[in-house]
Amino acid sequence: MFRNISSSIRLAIGVSAVFTLAACLAGVLSYVLQSQEMGERLRTDVTHSLESLLQIEGQGDLQDVRDQANAMADASKDGSVLVGYLDQDGAILAGNFAPRHLDEGARWLTPADAPAKHRDDDEPHAYWVEMAQVDSGWLVVARDNEWMVETQEILFSSMSVGLGLALLLSIGIALWIAKRTDRRIARMEQVLETVGRGDHALRIGEDGHDDLARLAGQMDATLEQLETGITAIRQVSTDVAHDLRAPLSRLRLKLEPLALDFNLSDAQRQSVGAALAELDGISATFDAILRLSRLQAGMVELCAKPVDLTALAQSLHEIFMPVAEDSGHQLVLAAFDGPVMIDADPQLIQQACVNLLENALRHSPSGTVVTLMASVQPEGAVLEVRDTGPGIPIAQRERVCERFVRLDKSRGTKGTGLGLALVTAIAQMHGARLMLRDGGPGLRATLLFPNTPKP
Ligand SMILES: Nc1ncnc2c1ncn2[C@@H]1O[C@H](COP(=O)(O)OP(=O)(O)OP(=O)(O)O)[C@@H](O)[C@H]1O
Ligand SMILES: [Mg+2]
Repeated sequence: MFRNISSSIRLAIGVSAVFTLAACLAGVLSYVLQSQEMGERLRTDVTHSLESLLQIEGQGDLQDVRDQANAMADASKDGSVLVGYLDQDGAILAGNFAPRHLDEGARWLTPADAPAKHRDDDEPHAYWVEMAQVDSGWLVVARDNEWMVETQEILFSSMSVGLGLALLLSIGIALWIAKRTDRRIARMEQVLETVGRGDHALRIGEDGHDDLARLAGQMDATLEQLETGITAIRQVSTDVAHDLRAPLSRLRLKLEPLALDFNLSDAQRQSVGAALAELDGISATFDAILRLSRLQAGMVELCAKPVDLTALAQSLHEIFMPVAEDSGHQLVLAAFDGPVMIDADPQLIQQACVNLLENALRHSPSGTVVTLMASVQPEGAVLEVRDTGPGIPIAQRERVCERFVRLDKSRGTKGTGLGLALVTAIAQMHGARLMLRDGGPGLRATLLFPNTPKP
């Protein structure tokens, strides 16, 4: 269960737990020390009172002892201080208290042994009592611990409330910081994931000064370098494609007449024909690179118009029928019964569908079925090309959408490895998504346009 909790939340819980433990320990310690201090004061008070009586008794004037004991007893109207001047048998000569057992020294009288106080609502309390035997009898002084118990109660409840509030506050603040940290880390993850999927322009854009902001700044700087590098690499291929197109066209113009020159032998003319075919392939690759670069650089303006995917599927079916027959495929139209409208650039959408259709015909063996389908799904409008060929392994489905990626099994077929990259770029421009899924058997290449009206 704890494995799914983020490290910042764990840190927050840990810090709160340590804080709570430390605060509890500090509370218990101060409670114990204060209680000890109060007990000490109680005992000192009693000792001082008894000493003053002993001093008067020592001077030999027993009437003074009686007066002093009565005065001390009278001064404590609520019975918190008890004083007794007793004869040798324990009978009261003065004061307000005679303990049941006379025993020299100091000790606690439990509430059961202690006398009830003078007020009716008083509960019995324990008393600290000190007794001393003198020539004329006994001197006894006691003091109850009521004020001590009350102070301890106040101490305990104020500490509990304070600790509770501090605990709630510390947990609240710790969780708030942890959630904020989680959100910032989630943003970094999302940016890295999006950049990994090909949107290299995205940045985290943190503007704080703490460690996470510094990390985000470092990541942004690295992404900047990455984008510069990728742009430079793309630019090189675009420049090469651009600069070599003109010399290739000139070369073609020079070779074309030779292919028809009957002064050359058949073999020579065939070699020239093969060279021309190679040239056409290179030109097609360069054209595709340039088209893709323009799309990805945002240089192609989108001329969005209402496009009917059903009509597009029908027209592609007609156009590709002869091609499919030549390659021995059965091309089936499973169009939706009714228009499937989207807002899109008709030429670009047609280009994307042509690429998917060419792939299905090119990469699945003859004798298999290729199905073309437009439909409206709950998620949006869909154009799908499904074949029953070898398909693409799951692990390769993302990779084949990158530039120049062709699977090993397709090395023998014609192609540049740019078709799916072009479809992906066109889909992104339209806010659509290219999905490559299992056709069981074969491949289901689906273009989903999620922003279209739902059925
Ligand atoms: N329908 C399919 N069935 C099996 N493999 C496919 C299919 N579509 C694409 N692939 C694999 O994905 C790779 C990339 O396809 P992509 O369309 O980008 O390039 P290509 O078809 O090889 O060349 P081109 O740029 O001319 O389209 C192909 O080389 C092939 O290996
Ligand atoms: Mg292709």
